[in-house]
Amino acid sequence: MRIAFIGGGTMGTAIVRCLLTKKVAAPQDIVISDVSLAQRELLSKEYGVSALASNRKAIEGADVAVLAVKPQDLAQVMEELRNIPAQQAMLSIVAGASLASLCQGLNHNCIIRAMPNMPAQIGEGMTVWTATTAVSPKQKKMAQSILGSLGMEIYVADEKYLDMATALSGSGPAYVFLFIEALIDAGVHIGLSRDIAQRLVIQTILGSTRVVPETNKHPAELRDMVTSPGGTTTEALLQLEKGGLRSLLLEAVVAAYDKAKHL
Ligand SMILES: NC(=O)c1ccc[n+]([C@@H]2O[C@H](COP(=O)([O-])OP(=O)(O)OC[C@H]3O[C@@H](n4cnc5c(N)ncnc54)[C@H](OP(=O)(O)O)[C@@H]3O)[C@@H](O)[C@H]2O)c1
Repeated sequence: MRIAFIGGGTMGTAIVRCLLTKKVAAPQDIVISDVSLAQRELLSKEYGVSALASNRKAIEGADVAVLAVKPQDLAQVMEELRNIPAQQAMLSIVAGASLASLCQGLNHNCIIRAMPNMPAQIGEGMTVWTATTAVSPKQKKMAQSILGSLGMEIYVADEKYLDMATALSGSGPAYVFLFIEALIDAGVHIGLSRDIAQRLVIQTILGSTRVVPETNKHPAELRDMVTSPGGTTTEALLQLEKGGLRSLLLEAVVAAYDKAKHL
């Protein structure tokens, strides 16, 4: 599979790294174009891939071209890439760019739209993706292996789920980072060193996260298992419920979803 990247910034580089690490593609299968000479030099030196200045040249002969530029640069890039060969699949990770706007901007029907999230940068991402009807089963398989190299991927038949995923898994890392930060501060507040508080919080979150799929138990059941009658945990949970943690999270996700729908 020959893969081209339009934009070799944070996400473009992360995908290349994951593709190579997981041996989904070899360096000679990858061509990247980027406006920055320094970035092109870095990419070819670090990963052994071809790095070009021309977007149009970069996608020549590619089976899949990954659009990984910032939303504000998309219009110009689409203008440059209009009317590419019908059999080439365009895979966009540009936040907020709908299938319809990509089809129209590129004058091309074979489009895949994906919403990865930030942990994709270390191969632990969650990506939700969809495709136009012009994308063949073989091209979907290619998209699946590219996106699967970033962590977990889920295909959805209806694009509306991408806005929902944007609010949950796309923005989700920010919610989790805030939660981690607040818990560390709480540990410091009661007298732990910042270093120890940070290690306690991170391992607690990593461990608790892994317990859910490994036990296949409902989170409420797991919570009950660590909540002794009249104990410390129930005191803390009372404060979290009083503060409206559940409804606050719900409202936060709804607000992100409303915003995603109107991007
Ligand atoms: N970062 C994330 O966690 C994340 C998660 C989900 C989705 N996304 C989406 O991924 C896309 C890329 O994000 P990013 O964080 O990787 O951005 P980024 O680091 O800015 O990377 C974009 C790269 O494209 C280059 N570029 C700009 N204009 C170009 C052009 N006309 N032709 C070719 N290359 C061009 C930029 O060069 P200059 O820097 O020199 O302009 C930069 O190296 C965004 O649309 C974002 O919505 C990102």
